[in-house]
Amino acid sequence: MPPEGRGGGTRPAPLFDDHIDVDTEMTARDVLRVVGRCIAYVRPHWRLFVLKFGLMLGTFVPLLVAPWPAKILVDHVVLEHPLTDSAVRFPPFFMPFIGAVEGMDPAGLLLATLALVLVLVVLFGAGMAETRDNTAFLAQGQDTATQSENMISAGWSLSGGLWGLGDLLCNIRLVQRVTDSFRTHLFRRLLRLPMTVLDDQRIGDGIYRTMYDAPAVQGICFDITLTPVVSVLLAAVSVYVMEYSFGHIVPELVWLGVATMPLALLLTAPLAGLARRTSQASRSSGSATTNRMEEGAAHVAAVQSHGAEAGERANFADASKESFRRHRHVVAVDVAINLCSGLALLVLGVRAFVVVTDGIVLGDLLPGDLLVVLGLFGGVAAASLTLGRLWVDLQKNAAGVRRVFFFIDLPGDDAASGRTAVSVSSDVVFDRVGLVYPDGREALRDISFEARVGQTVALVGPTGAGKTSLAYMIPRFLRPTAGRVLFDGVDLGELDVDAVRAQVAYVFQEHVLFSQSVGDNLRLGRPDASDPELEEAARVSGAHAFVSTLADGYGTVLGNGGGTLSVGQKQRISIARGLLRDAPILILDEPTAALDPETERTLVAALEDIKRDRIVFVIAHRLSTIAGADRILFMEEGRIVEQGSHEELMALPDGAYRRFVTG
Ligand SMILES: Nc1ncnc2c1ncn2[C@@H]1O[C@H](COP(=O)(O)OP(=O)(O)OP(=O)(O)O)[C@@H](O)[C@H]1O
Ligand SMILES: [Mg+2]
Repeated sequence: MPPEGRGGGTRPAPLFDDHIDVDTEMTARDVLRVVGRCIAYVRPHWRLFVLKFGLMLGTFVPLLVAPWPAKILVDHVVLEHPLTDSAVRFPPFFMPFIGAVEGMDPAGLLLATLALVLVLVVLFGAGMAETRDNTAFLAQGQDTATQSENMISAGWSLSGGLWGLGDLLCNIRLVQRVTDSFRTHLFRRLLRLPMTVLDDQRIGDGIYRTMYDAPAVQGICFDITLTPVVSVLLAAVSVYVMEYSFGHIVPELVWLGVATMPLALLLTAPLAGLARRTSQASRSSGSATTNRMEEGAAHVAAVQSHGAEAGERANFADASKESFRRHRHVVAVDVAINLCSGLALLVLGVRAFVVVTDGIVLGDLLPGDLLVVLGLFGGVAAASLTLGRLWVDLQKNAAGVRRVFFFIDLPGDDAASGRTAVSVSSDVVFDRVGLVYPDGREALRDISFEARVGQTVALVGPTGAGKTSLAYMIPRFLRPTAGRVLFDGVDLGELDVDAVRAQVAYVFQEHVLFSQSVGDNLRLGRPDASDPELEEAARVSGAHAFVSTLADGYGTVLGNGGGTLSVGQKQRISIARGLLRDAPILILDEPTAALDPETERTLVAALEDIKRDRIVFVIAHRLSTIAGADRILFMEEGRIVEQGSHEELMALPDGAYRRFVTG
């Protein structure tokens, strides 16, 4: 299901939504499962959590105590009713104060009550429920991303004053720690994802999930632990005080108090699913905006050279507008939910007001009681609203956290997940290997062959045949979706991925050089290589001659991505780097494409020497590179259609390889 009813339930438009994370619908059970997993991130910080819980309980004090001094001031100081002559009973927790002030004249009572109020203000702030709220003070816009950024360091407390300050600081610390563990976990997983995933989903999306989706975890942690317990407790204590103090005079008041919570729950629950879907859609389009930004900036040369600025700008503007539009939906659902529950509570509040004023007119109650009832009713209403919104907030946060867990759960290349003692000494075997890319494209089918130490194996075939895909499986950059790849008879799935990669030196089809010195670039895979070894590898790949002419020789620092070298020079350095790595398996993807015939001959001759104690895989188009290979695997459309030596394959009268090389 799409995240939102776009296009009447068809798949989401790829421009604004995820490419691989498309199944975004969650059932109530999925939400609960996500919630359960979030608890694991709070567990390490349980001490802080318990402190926060204690501080939150403390915030009840002003909510429950503050209405009573107000009553005393109105009824017993201003109207001068005797304290003992009130039909309303003071709650037990307030009795010590009553005991202390009993018998005082109105002036004394005034001073004592003001002193109590002063203590309450210093400790808990001026209002009865002065919510202390802060964000990270970052500029914030009307979209999910910037608001999430603020949430990471946001805190709140039901109370003001010194207590509220302590509560707030504790809250911020806890939120930061939980979010920190969560997003660091996600980033660790992102770095180990198979390369196909980031190809598909792109970097901007990864950034969005790490920075903007991960903070939702703290909402969940509070929503399911502190919030319900504290809300129910607050409502229960408020109703208890209503019953204790007013139950014998106006019982209806107690029932009104009791009714608020179920009513708030009933009215908000139906909107919870809608809240989750709008939140999911908003986050998804936020990711798309980040992706657009990342792609445009990363490929700025291509954009400028093709005069594509206007198109890129329009694409970004579309994504940005869509992101804001979807955030407006989130706000609209929020407003609807608040309106529904707020209106219902208002009706109950007005009824409570009428009941109490009736009581005052009839003489059963005193005017100050109205203040007490409003205070207590406010407590119940606030608790009910919070509890009513709980499921809604939980759903919205679950939408964010689900996006994080989606990446955390993707099978990645976990290190230390299998045997680490690997050393290829005999062969690499492909056993009926198949590969389907995440987008459903089948790149390889039923690939079986054996390559022994001492052999050169050439992968040959037209473009798109699957040569690179096949080679990527050897260092486990890609995992087979069918069949097995074995090193010395052991399935790679049983081996530690880092140990597997240590066995392979891979020279990529696209050269990856860093803006470091030539020497550092060569030593990437083997930092302890000696200078003579370095030079030897560079000689074989034909790099030594031109490196010697550079200003600082091997110490010359290259431009960004090796940009100060020609393509052929970059290729030679990449090859030298692969040779230097000295791993039992050497894979060269199109090594000779940019080499002149002379260097190619040197390299091919050198490979003869190198293969003695290794397996060399070469992907090439040039006959001069492949003809000498011990075995040629000729591929077409993801399958090996012929295999054998050059002579054997050329001897097939109407062979595909023969046709390929003779053109
Ligand atoms: N990340 C990917 N997701 C989906 N399909 C992919 C991906 N990478 C490659 N493919 C597809 O898999 C098929 C094989 O690609 P591969 O790169 O292995 O071909 P190749 O034989 O190395 O081609 P070339 O000679 O041009 O390098 C192609 O059809 C390609 O479109
Ligand atoms: Mg290729």
